[in-house]
Parts: sequence; C-alpha cells; structure tokens
Amino acid sequence: MAVVGCGMISHEYLRNLTSFADLRVLVCADLDTGRAKAQAARYGVPEAGDTAAAVAHPGVELVVNLTVPAAHAAVTRQALAAGRHVWTEKPLATDSAAGQRLLAAAARAGLRIGGAPDTTLGAGLQTGRRLVTAGAIGVPQTGLALFQDPGPERWHADPEFLFQPGAGPLFDMAPYYLAALATLFGPAEQVAAIGRRARGQRVIHRGPRAGTTFAVAVPTHVTALVSYARGAAATLVLSFDSPLRRHGFLEITGTEATLALPDPNRFDGEIRIRPTGSDDWITVPAAGATAGRGLGVLDMARAIRAGVPHRAPGELAGHVLETMEAIARSAGAGAFEPVRNTFTVPDPLAADWDPHTRTTLEAT
Ligand SMILES: NC(=O)c1ccc[n+]([C@@H]2O[C@H](COP(=O)([O-])OP(=O)(O)OC[C@H]3O[C@@H](n4cnc5c(N)ncnc54)[C@H](O)[C@@H]3O)[C@@H](O)[C@H]2O)c1
Repeated sequence: MAVVGCGMISHEYLRNLTSFADLRVLVCADLDTGRAKAQAARYGVPEAGDTAAAVAHPGVELVVNLTVPAAHAAVTRQALAAGRHVWTEKPLATDSAAGQRLLAAAARAGLRIGGAPDTTLGAGLQTGRRLVTAGAIGVPQTGLALFQDPGPERWHADPEFLFQPGAGPLFDMAPYYLAALATLFGPAEQVAAIGRRARGQRVIHRGPRAGTTFAVAVPTHVTALVSYARGAAATLVLSFDSPLRRHGFLEITGTEATLALPDPNRFDGEIRIRPTGSDDWITVPAAGATAGRGLGVLDMARAIRAGVPHRAPGELAGHVLETMEAIARSAGAGAFEPVRNTFTVPDPLAADWDPHTRTTLEAT
C-alpha cells in the first residue's frame, strides 16, 4: 500500500500498518515530500515521493488517504483512476454529493473504498455490538450521545479551521458517534437539529498566537435528533460551548437494559449494562483488537483477498457524511431533513480477531 498525507495522524497509522504482517507499506507521499521522506525513514518504508508517483507504484494495491479533509476527494479520485482501492480518513469528501460520486466511480471500476472511523472495529464497540446482537438489552430503542467541550482554541495553536464550514463540533466529532450508532441501529432516515453559537469571536489560548481573536463561522453547539429506519431514535449533543468537559458519552437503551459504551473515539474502554429496575451496573470486559487506527485498513486488505465485504465501508462513511449534512441543514432551516443514502450493516468481528496473526495470501 501507499500512505498519502504524512501529517499528525500518519504516526499512529504508520506505526500500526508497518506492524501488521499481512500488509506492506511500500511508499509514503505528501505535498511536502520532505515530510514523506521523514515518515518513510522513521517507519522503515522503502520509498517516498509525491502522490502521483505513489499511486502509480506498481506494487501498490491500496492507497491510504490521510490528507486534510479538503484534499480527500481529489486524492481518492486520483488513486481510483490509477486502479487502486482506497482507505480514506474522515470525511469521505467535504460534501455528500462528492462522496457519492467517489463511491460510484469505485463501483464502476470494481474497486473498494473504506472510510474512517475504524474505532467501530475496536474491542469496545465490537463487544457492545456482540452484546446487542445476543439480546443482552432486549430490542434496541434509543441512543444518547454527548460530546461537550469548552472548545479546541484552548489547546490548539491554530484552531481557526475547526470553526469553519466542514468542521465545528458537528463535522469534527459526530463521525465517531454517528458511525457507532449506525452500526448498532442501521441506517438513519431523518434528522432534526438546533444549532447555537455562544460567541461570534473566540480567542486563541495557547502557542505563539495566544491572544489572537478569530471569527466563528459555524454553530458551536448542536443538538440533533436522529430517527433510524428500523425504529430506533437517538439524541446527540455536540458542543464547543460547554464549560463542562464530557467526552465519549454513549448509551443505548433497549427494552430490557441500558448499555453504556466506551468513548467511540477510542478502540478500548469499559462496557457496562444495567438491567431494568437494577441500581447497579454490571461491567463486561471488552474483547477484541485495541491496536488503534489502521485496523480498518487491515480488515479491508484481508477482505479484498478473501473476496468478502470489509467492515468500515465507504457506503457507511458516505451515510454518516450525509447525516451530518442533514443535521447542519436542519439546524439552519428548523425543519426535519431526510437522509437518503443507505448502507449494509457490516458483520461484527469475531472476539478473537487478531490483527497481528497473518491471514492473507500474497497477490497472484
Ligand atoms: N490529528 C488527529 O488526531 C486526527 C484524528 C483522527 C482523524 N484525523 C483525520 O486525519 C486527517 C489528517 O489529519 P492530520 O491531523 O494528520 O492533519 P495534518 O495537517 O497534520 O496532515 C495532513 C498532511 O496531508 C498533506 N496534504 C494535504 N493535501 C495533500 C494533497 N493534496 N496531497 C498529498 N498530501 C497532502 C499535508 O501536507 C500534511 O502533511 C484528517 O482528515 C483528520 O480529520 C486526524
């Protein structure tokens, strides 16, 4: 495979992708080729260069797109045009229509797209899914997801982009919560939302530009209601306006019990169940893989060799992107908005799925 985009998150990916025996990273690429060379040297990747050369590398079958969101669609298109499968970081594209065009182009070419987040394949969320499938909470009814934070300008040295269209608490954080809910409840069919902005301007707290004021272009507190086709309903709060910091709250309630899931932005974590009428939580140990980002790429590569569906498909990433767009539209218009694109809920992983045991065959 080729890794395109050698910034901050490429460390976690390269550490993992170069540790899985099924995979070989042949080349790193970046707009800044110095950065690509440095990451290649650090993680023992044999070659480095620009994107065109990386996707055209004769040994590459799968391109891992870790560029910035604004570049995702162009890099994915370039890789598909070269006949490569693509794994892409979130979001699939900056708008849903562009994302659907990528999925259609891949389908026409007989290629696959996989999309972040792959935290849905981590031990925490997979254990939760296995419990729900086994009937541990009865029939799933509702979900409650909370991400509350005073805002990333408190720790990020250049936070402006997080308050521009395509970011904000909705587009930056909802992918984790919406992808987890979608794997539990299936496709969403409509949403309603309210958006608020506590301040029109914010001040950078950290780094060389501390004290600098910048304008806020998006809602910084979003409350959304999501209605799922199979009948479940979820409430999400996504906020950069909260004095209280509460990340990763995700609870699913069924007819028999409530299930408290771990932070959907993590691969591990505690799972607890509380049956109707009980005053105590029962803790369930998480079973599965906790290696981190890159698990979705590994699952996709194994699935390509085995000729079976991969478990973090582009269709799910596209559905999550459309759901976020519908939430943003509803917050602006004050009306329910439909979600039209759907996906097939991926099969759960086996509890003993091991990323470090080689399972795939060489390409013929
Ligand atoms: N940083 C995190 O903690 C984190 C966590 C989860 C997901 N992500 C996602 O990972 C992606 C990358 O985030 P990051 O924090 O690593 O960003 P970053 O800015 O640190 O790195 C992005 C890299 O992509 C390169 N790039 C940009 N456009 C390119 C193009 N057209 N062709 C080739 N290279 C290009 C840049 O030069 C840069 O080196 C984003 O989609 C982000 O949402 C990041």
